[in-house]
Amino acid sequence: MEPLSRRNVLILGAVGTAAVVTGGIVLWSQTQGGSPAPPGTRSANPSPTESQAAGSSGTLREPEVLTSADGRLDLTLTAALTDVTVAGAQVRALTFNGSLPGPTLRVRPGDRITLAFRSELDAPTNLHTHGLVVSPEGNSDNVFVMIEPGATFEYEYQLGDDHPPGLFWYHPHHHGNSAEQLFGGMFGAIIVEDPGPIEVARERLLLISDIAFDATGDLHVASAIERMLGREGDIVMVNGQTGATLVAQPGERERWRVVNACSSRHLRLRLDGQRLQLLGIDAGRYAEPAEVDEIVLLPGNRADLIVTAVEGSSVLRTLPFDRGSMGGMGRPQSATTGADLLTFTAAGVSSPATAPVPAQPSQRDLRREPMTGHRTLTLAMGGPGGIGGMAFTIDGKEFDEARVDTEIAHGALEEWTLVNTSTMDHPFHLHVWPMQLIEVDGVPIAGTDWRDVVPVRARSSTVVRIAFEGLTGRTVYHCHILDHEDNGMMGVVRTA
Ligand code: CU
Ligand code: CU
Ligand code: CU
Repeated sequence: MEPLSRRNVLILGAVGTAAVVTGGIVLWSQTQGGSPAPPGTRSANPSPTESQAAGSSGTLREPEVLTSADGRLDLTLTAALTDVTVAGAQVRALTFNGSLPGPTLRVRPGDRITLAFRSELDAPTNLHTHGLVVSPEGNSDNVFVMIEPGATFEYEYQLGDDHPPGLFWYHPHHHGNSAEQLFGGMFGAIIVEDPGPIEVARERLLLISDIAFDATGDLHVASAIERMLGREGDIVMVNGQTGATLVAQPGERERWRVVNACSSRHLRLRLDGQRLQLLGIDAGRYAEPAEVDEIVLLPGNRADLIVTAVEGSSVLRTLPFDRGSMGGMGRPQSATTGADLLTFTAAGVSSPATAPVPAQPSQRDLRREPMTGHRTLTLAMGGPGGIGGMAFTIDGKEFDEARVDTEIAHGALEEWTLVNTSTMDHPFHLHVWPMQLIEVDGVPIAGTDWRDVVPVRARSSTVVRIAFEGLTGRTVYHCHILDHEDNGMMGVVRTA
């Protein structure tokens, strides 16, 4: 087994080790059971400087939080074109309940979410609860539902008692306009509480998205080329804000839950000068938090991150990322540009030194289990078909919701080799059943790494293992560059 190259480690999310830990080592204590409020939420425990600064325009705002009670969360989400302010300009974006991002849903394993989706849009839509392990059928997380303009649809999501804790999110998933609607602003976070919450000074939610407008403040309409490359906006926001600030005291430990809600943009995040420990990507948890100085989030990925404040001011940046080109001489590149996202300042009295982060609950490792099946799925770009003569296919076929591409016997343990013959990266998302990352570009993964969006780099392959247990039903897998999904790079899987 050759060691991970830097390139591959980049793909996998965690890069390198923190060079020096200069800040105080800070406490990661277990909560004394039965704490009623999630510890570390901002309302419960705002940072002292920040609470004074709250309301000043520069402080990072967080979306409204809707919390379940007695096992239930009932809400209405209204999707509409709304006047909002983005980067200081009055513009019109697509929002849920008038805000960008939409509300955060905070629930526990075993809860039932009842969600009335009201569409005031002028195009069909629907909703996907990305990463949630809930039924893909009926009025649950069913991407085949179509909600017509002006209509209301009642969703109901039943979380199992053993639902994994972590950060999830919601966004539209109607084939043909999912990229446009996500890019327009329709997304929000779902948090499933930890059974034993990790104690931190405060918890923060960072939904990172990009967007673009024309000169009159209307949403940018993507060109054919942009739809082939995957559209990226020139404005990169955190919770709908640009240039926001965060403050903490040196030594304080914070939990950051970070979503890449961009429709195509890959994030390569750094917060130089601060100590970062990655608990896991998506709902996965590493056996031990990984000391990192860079995190790659593909579209749809989330990071569950511990930030320990080190005195000084640091900028959260996303760095350029080369995700390939359309191939051939002079064909456009899809290189993602970098951007400054926010400023984090640690100042004032140091927090007392504390204990190291405890080990996390161990996760299942499918490398130790015999597989009942192996499959290869091939992601490709080429003519004829699609847009501009460029078809986006899986196993040579563009998406057809009437066809089942992959039939799975319930209980199967399968190894899938995802082959990308094209010149662009295609981050691969499977609904309902998480994937254990086994190998990327020929390099085996160290440790147990569960995700629901995995990298499949240009002219490369990725191996994952999947346990098709628990839920059954018909759903999809696809490239999470949503323009590619809209262009056909999606297949139907049925587990029965
Ligand atoms: Cu998604
Ligand atoms: Cu793609
Ligand atoms: Cu999807």
